[in-house]
Amino acid sequence: MKKTWWLILVTFLCLLSSSNGRDLKARDKVNLPKYNHTLATILVQYASAVYLSDLTALFTWTCSRCDGLTEILKWKQGFEIIELVVDVEHCLQAFVGVADDPHAIIIAFRGTNEHSLQNWIEDLYWKQHEINYPGMDDAMVHRGFYNAYHNTTIRPAILDAVDRAKKFYGNIQIIVLGHSMGGAMAAFCGLDLTVNRCEKNVQVMTFGQPRIGNAVFASLYSTLVPNTLRVTHDHDIVPHLPPYYYYLPSKTYHHFPREVWLYNVGLGSLVYRVEKVCDGSGEDPTCSRSVSGNSISDHLVYYGVEMGSDAPDSCRIVMGSNDSSPSVQDSRGNIVLTREPAKFVLKLSRELDNQGKAISVS
Ligand SMILES: *[C@@H]1O[C@H](CO)[C@@H](O)[C@H](O)[C@H]1NC(C)=O
Ligand SMILES: *[C@@H]1O[C@H](CO)[C@@H](O)[C@H](O)[C@H]1NC(C)=O
Ligand SMILES: *[C@@H]1O[C@H](CO)[C@@H](O)[C@H](O)[C@H]1NC(C)=O
Repeated sequence: MKKTWWLILVTFLCLLSSSNGRDLKARDKVNLPKYNHTLATILVQYASAVYLSDLTALFTWTCSRCDGLTEILKWKQGFEIIELVVDVEHCLQAFVGVADDPHAIIIAFRGTNEHSLQNWIEDLYWKQHEINYPGMDDAMVHRGFYNAYHNTTIRPAILDAVDRAKKFYGNIQIIVLGHSMGGAMAAFCGLDLTVNRCEKNVQVMTFGQPRIGNAVFASLYSTLVPNTLRVTHDHDIVPHLPPYYYYLPSKTYHHFPREVWLYNVGLGSLVYRVEKVCDGSGEDPTCSRSVSGNSISDHLVYYGVEMGSDAPDSCRIVMGSNDSSPSVQDSRGNIVLTREPAKFVLKLSRELDNQGKAISVS
């Protein structure tokens, strides 16, 4: 337990270092996870867009799934992407950008793009390799999800892009998003920014996210990143995995709060969509836990927006032949496309050095 208290103390000092007591109180109020339907329907589109395999369309924000966002925002540059990273080795993809409404740095993670979503889901039943979350005694997390964020090209590229965005835009809010496994990565990223980067204004919203750790982890997570919403959809199977063992409360995987469960009531032409904000336990028995998780199709649509890959059979990458966004890959084939905030100077990274700084070639 000693290490855990140390971590909480460090995080607390981190908060105090740049704010007085009154700010701290204000922060607590601001950070209560309020559910805003309009905001959720905007944010879900970023979590959908990050799946696209056409990197040129994504980087220039002209992709098919980017339309809604520019439309909602009424002006073309409603969202400015400043980093797009593809870890080809592990088939991962994420972007960082700055949005106008909500005025925030947006980080989005793609979910799994394996040969078959079905296989990935079956694996979640059986293969649970856990590791201890660093600095948190007794907090165990899923090794695969942890490594996808912490042990790949993704983390250094994301942190570098957040630094650049903050240099230009100041301390605006940071919103971290992801669907499916991307939701698991979003949670680890939100925690990382809070604990290791002392970020105070981090909001996490995930869609159809699997469980990522045990009850000790869930409890610490919700203390450290209280402004988190975990949206689930009807009978979506993935939030039910890895399984919750009711009779083994200290051993089982456990969700962190706060769930928002989307479901339909009624029959035939009288169907109402309900969006239920669940209790603070993370495992509200009256939310998605009240139904069986038996649907993959519910996993692939959130708020009517199509989630999942447009090229599901591979980890395919499409780069336009146009050299308006040329691609240079590192020795392992990973790609990082980088742009200075609001400057439209295209830079490329050849190699990520140890600090994860992109080496730029103007
Ligand atoms: C909900 O989010 C939208 C979009 O960011 C924002 O315009 C609106 O003011 C928010 N509503 C509330 C009650 O915070
Ligand atoms: C990180 O990845 C390397 C190489 O894939 C692996 O050897 C190492 O065990 C991983 N770290 C953890 C904490 O699992
Ligand atoms: C390449 O980009 C130029 C200018 O940005 C544009 O005029 C041209 O149509 C593009 N070509 C293709 C094949 O997309």
